[in-house]
Amino acid sequence: MDIAVIGSNNVDLISYIDRMPEDGETIEAPDFQLGSGGKGANQAMAARRLGSEVLMITRVGSDLFADNTIKNFEDNGFDTKYVLRTEGTSGVAPIFVDKESNNRIIIIKGANAELSPADIDDAAEDIAACKLIVLQLEIDIETVYYAIEFGTKHGIPVLLNPAPADPNLDLDRVKDCTYLMPNETELALLTGMPVESEEEIEAAARKLLDAGIKDVIVTLGSRGALWVNGEAAKRYQGEKVDAVDTTGAGDAFIGCFSHVLVQTGDIDTAITIANRYAADSVTRRGTQTSFATAEEFGLEI
Ligand code: RIB
Repeated sequence: MDIAVIGSNNVDLISYIDRMPEDGETIEAPDFQLGSGGKGANQAMAARRLGSEVLMITRVGSDLFADNTIKNFEDNGFDTKYVLRTEGTSGVAPIFVDKESNNRIIIIKGANAELSPADIDDAAEDIAACKLIVLQLEIDIETVYYAIEFGTKHGIPVLLNPAPADPNLDLDRVKDCTYLMPNETELALLTGMPVESEEEIEAAARKLLDAGIKDVIVTLGSRGALWVNGEAAKRYQGEKVDAVDTTGAGDAFIGCFSHVLVQTGDIDTAITIANRYAADSVTRRGTQTSFATAEEFGLEI
């Protein structure tokens, strides 16, 4: 296996709206899409579509969404032995996409909240054989910390996407991650620093380096990305595309970055290609439905 993703899966309920309803108002949405999502599953799916072998450790509920989620993993070539079942609801995400292609997301963690350190122990041998561990914050925070400790103990690089932004995240317990990939909002929350200008973003990212992180990659949406490490900083400009739905673009970036990193070992190449892949994903609707395969994207790595 190339990559272990220890994280969430959600059922995305995407309403395409002209505007948000006012208090007490009912409005009609012109369109709707039901899809597979969740930051963990999305990142795993992007890497998988590009050709990586991905070990997915996650939990679904006992509701009507669970079988569909498992089938989605199977249809995309995942081994589902660590897609575990929990009594209760699966993770669900009502999403609202406006006419400018921007999204607002509510998550109900459901079964994702039950993914535990014991689940990591049960999959330990398979995780230890992976070249990269990828984490987000849609599962129990103690499980995230445990996964970081696991990666450190086994000498496996850990990539943490600190999303959704969590004010309780303890920087001291994530400092052993090799790669930290926040967006601007998450960066501001993690560091307590302003992120209005390019200089402020770089200064905040450097604070994470001071804490012990090796490489910080800040995703900047349509403006591209910034990579800082102990030696240098590099800015990647955004690609110009006609966006229809930006949901999951950050996940597309991270899944593609993980794939290219594991295949080439080259961070600069991984960011350059991930920047293009994320831009490509916003030209289609949905989350996982917007992620291209290697063939569609023209990637031969
Ligand atoms: O990043 C996009 C994802 O956030 C959606 O798929 C939704 O499920 C939430 O997890």
